[in-house]
Amino acid sequence: MEATHDLLILGSGLAGLRAAVEAAMVSKDQLDIAIISRVQLMRSHSVCAEGGTAAVLRPEDGDSLELHAWDTVRGSDFLADQDVVWRFVQESPREIYQLDHWGIPWSRRPDGRINQRPFGGHSFDRATFAEDKTGFFEMHTLYDTLQKYARVKRYDECYATAILIDDGVFQGITLWDLSTGQFFPARGKALVIATGGACRMYGFTTYSLTATGDGMAMAFRAGLALKDMEFVQFHPTGLIPSGILITEGARGEGGHLVNNKGERFMERYAPSKMETAPRDIVSRAEMTEILEGRGYTRPDGLDYVHIDLRHLGAAKINERLPLIREVAIKFAFIDPIDQPIPIRPAAHYTMGGIHANIDGATEVEGIWAAGEVACTSMHGANRLGSNSTAECLVWGKITGDNAARHAAVQKSIAPAPEKKVRDEENRVFNQLGNGDGSEDVYVIRTELQRMMDQSVGVYREGPAMEQALAKIAELKQRMKHVRAADDSRIYNTNLVNIMETQNLIDLAETIVAGGLNRTESRGAHSRRDFPARDDVNWLKHTLARYSPDGPGLSYSPVTINMWQPVERKY
Ligand code: FUM
Repeated sequence: MEATHDLLILGSGLAGLRAAVEAAMVSKDQLDIAIISRVQLMRSHSVCAEGGTAAVLRPEDGDSLELHAWDTVRGSDFLADQDVVWRFVQESPREIYQLDHWGIPWSRRPDGRINQRPFGGHSFDRATFAEDKTGFFEMHTLYDTLQKYARVKRYDECYATAILIDDGVFQGITLWDLSTGQFFPARGKALVIATGGACRMYGFTTYSLTATGDGMAMAFRAGLALKDMEFVQFHPTGLIPSGILITEGARGEGGHLVNNKGERFMERYAPSKMETAPRDIVSRAEMTEILEGRGYTRPDGLDYVHIDLRHLGAAKINERLPLIREVAIKFAFIDPIDQPIPIRPAAHYTMGGIHANIDGATEVEGIWAAGEVACTSMHGANRLGSNSTAECLVWGKITGDNAARHAAVQKSIAPAPEKKVRDEENRVFNQLGNGDGSEDVYVIRTELQRMMDQSVGVYREGPAMEQALAKIAELKQRMKHVRAADDSRIYNTNLVNIMETQNLIDLAETIVAGGLNRTESRGAHSRRDFPARDDVNWLKHTLARYSPDGPGLSYSPVTINMWQPVERKY
């Protein structure tokens, strides 16, 4: 079996679906498009996006593209490429209205206009929302829109294992159909990678279990560079003990962060912005409170502080934050109408990703990357909340458009590299999981997560990162002894787990190596041994390239065409 289509879209979250809709639209449904997803399509992690999508909608009230761009650049600690940010702020309002026309139920103001709420680091209320289920409604809107196009074929529950590239030419990808056990190549004239981020290498995270960085790791192993991987975002409000997201919208709507003395501690860290300071600052504040003894302790080490919504009142909580209430009741047995919610920073977003240009084009002709898997350098060292769903929409559209136009003018599809496909099938089914069985992949994954939580978290230090690198080397060796206990090809979650863990280990190594080399603190990369930002030496992007001995690092300049870096104060 093989699958042959004009355009392959790998990943079915917001970026992937938006790319598919755009490609179908610009080609007037003439292009043969495949959406390939490791899950059933609507189970992509994007449905978990809660709080909002940033866009300038109300210039008449004082917002502006310049202000959104400035907030984003300042939030990025000046590592964002400013031309990319400018394109983003120009495009994002169009996406909000486009979704509106496609039928999304945006929350409304009393006068009927689309409502927007405050979000961290934004100096205007510009997080456009649909209750606190924004991603869910955006996904459904795109899914509904996709039904208009007959030539879009879905490959649900197909796990991609490799991207095949020969001499700089895209040849296809290899897929394992989890429901039938078939292993086959998918070939196309163009590929959009939209597989999301990689924070499942952390134990305490807001991510779905299936967001394991597979596309990023495959691209890395295929020779594409990863950029700025050391920048991992910790969301300030992960619910104790699961890590489920308590949306920043809860602070945007007026929630207070409170320590064990009852103090609104953000006053000490960001007196003008308080709880709506950027995430890197709020997460550091929470960790400082906890480390200095002003948090609440737990035997499992998940010490925490509180987010208190009680003063918002039942009506506002039920109207604006119904999911948060439901989640707190079901997963922490706490009704936020009556009690504060226990939270701490949780791994939430990889600012780094596949090195892509302002069009989402990667280094290989015919391959684009969109959404969290990509690093177009729009978030720099710290992403602002609500800029990510907007980014998925904006670069979903851009890459869908570019990839469709590229595919339309290609005369033929590269032939299937049969030997490579066979070798990959052997790697997956014969080699992976074919060790002596003396190691257990679940133990290895847990050790990886514990190490990343402890040594590569909100605060970092050289010696701990050195140890983390040594631990990664050890885990890589131990992975060779893992054997899948299940030898079936159908729904073999044990083997999937082995492949995911291998992906997470490779990506963790790029994060730690990049973080160790970067001897400064910038945005979410906060080193106790190098506490200051160092623009003289480190105002540059990190590029990591695969080698069997560990990632090779190089650096590239930041595009600064609007604002020179200044001290970041809130
Ligand atoms: O807090 C949130 O609702 C998350 C939003 C985001 O990561 O952009």
